[in-house]
Amino acid sequence: MINTEHFWMPFSANRQFKQKPRLLVAAKGMYYTSDDGRQILDGTAGLWCVNAGHGHPKIVEAIQQQAAQMDYAPPFQMGHPKAFEAATALVDVAPKGLNRVFFANDGSEAVDTALKIALAYHRVRGDSMRHRLIGRERGYHGVGFGGISVGGIAGNRKHYGPGIAGVDHLRHTLDIGKNAFSRGLPAHGTEIADEFEQRLLALHDPSTVAALIVEPVQGSAGVVIPPQGYLQKLRATCDKYGILLIFDEVITGFGRLGASFGAESPTGLRCRDSDD
Ligand SMILES: Cc1ncc(COP(=O)(O)O)c(C=O)c1O
Repeated sequence: MINTEHFWMPFSANRQFKQKPRLLVAAKGMYYTSDDGRQILDGTAGLWCVNAGHGHPKIVEAIQQQAAQMDYAPPFQMGHPKAFEAATALVDVAPKGLNRVFFANDGSEAVDTALKIALAYHRVRGDSMRHRLIGRERGYHGVGFGGISVGGIAGNRKHYGPGIAGVDHLRHTLDIGKNAFSRGLPAHGTEIADEFEQRLLALHDPSTVAALIVEPVQGSAGVVIPPQGYLQKLRATCDKYGILLIFDEVITGFGRLGASFGAESPTGLRCRDSDD
């Protein structure tokens, strides 16, 4: 019996879990093996992050080779070829125009970094009035202070005070009454995007807003697919007022919606023509 006392598990009911632990001990292809020897179909690819399958031989070999060749190199004032190769490979599949890569260790750090870059971008261009960040109700952007501030899940926010200053939230688009049986993108709710301009920007003044952050498909508070034309409207409003639009693609990027990124997905999320 393992000692479960010391590991404080994230997003888990620790007391219940530790009374009856559910432990996975191996993984191959689409299946986990539990500690009592059962094969369990991994229908969600881990936390949507093992989409190539578990223990893919090419990935295993690459990790083994790299660990043996060079396990670590400092990234400050020094570099190593693989980081540059990875950045170039990413630009090759990223939406056109996204051609600079800043690596982070996880989604939460990536989100906080994106928010910081948005604020700093306006400031270095001499537009330091733009300090507000807008998120959405039901949005999930990780567990950093920036992410929980722009995020819209009450349980993730309530313990941590007011969060970062100057944040507001757009209404979510979930409408089960009207959209429960939609095929593809729902027909109702596109007008909620108008509230960004008519309500939030009218209230705060567009010149104070640095960025709007959205998930192309909301994930953690229920998978909420954007209404038809909704993301395009947000894009147009951001462009109109010089506001940056951040797509948090932690769970929609890397082919999960059919295209490389949700921003270019052929399922109808496409926000820009690829020639923009
Ligand atoms: C949209 C989105 N942003 C950020 C995160 C945070 O990523 P991480 O758990 O790697 O910190 C997640 C995690 O599921 C996510 O779904």
